[in-house]
Amino acid sequence: MERSLVLIKPDAMQRGLAGTIISRLEGQGLKLVSLKMLHLDKALAKRLYAVHSDKPFFEGLVNYISSTPIMAAVFEGEGAVEVIREIMGATDPAQAEAGTIRGDFGLDIERNTVHGSDSVETAEREIKLFFAEEEIFNYHRETEG
Ligand code: RTP
Ligand code: MG
Repeated sequence: MERSLVLIKPDAMQRGLAGTIISRLEGQGLKLVSLKMLHLDKALAKRLYAVHSDKPFFEGLVNYISSTPIMAAVFEGEGAVEVIREIMGATDPAQAEAGTIRGDFGLDIERNTVHGSDSVETAEREIKLFFAEEEIFNYHRETEG
């Protein structure tokens, strides 16, 4: 089953939107299989966004995502990566459709409320930055013996 990493960014945590965001994702049939709250350090922020290291917005992005606590979640479901990207909406909240998380709650392109992995390969890499495999749960009942 496909997995994706979701981060509830500082602007969302500060405005008490964590529950709303998790609820929207659950409401679309995605299964929450891991969740933690953390204050990202700059080193991990740089690894997370390494693909953007030569962009003009990189330093601001790293400073922002490590500014105040966030939540990291792993969601699982069929086509989870793409489904989550759709529920999140466009990167720039001004371009994001109403009804998407960023369209409804995003403040600007930096304070855009959520992160979601952009491919299955990226998801695997990103999940490992935040979670050990044994921290990711499944809902299959263990049989004894
Ligand atoms: P994310 O990785 O956070 O889920 O966002 P994304 O895939 O929609 O966008 P991406 O291109 O990966 O960019 C990562 C984050 O960098 C900030 N950004 N700023 N000033 C700018 O032109 C600019 N472009 C991107 C955004 O906060 C974006 O979420
Ligand atoms: Mg991205």
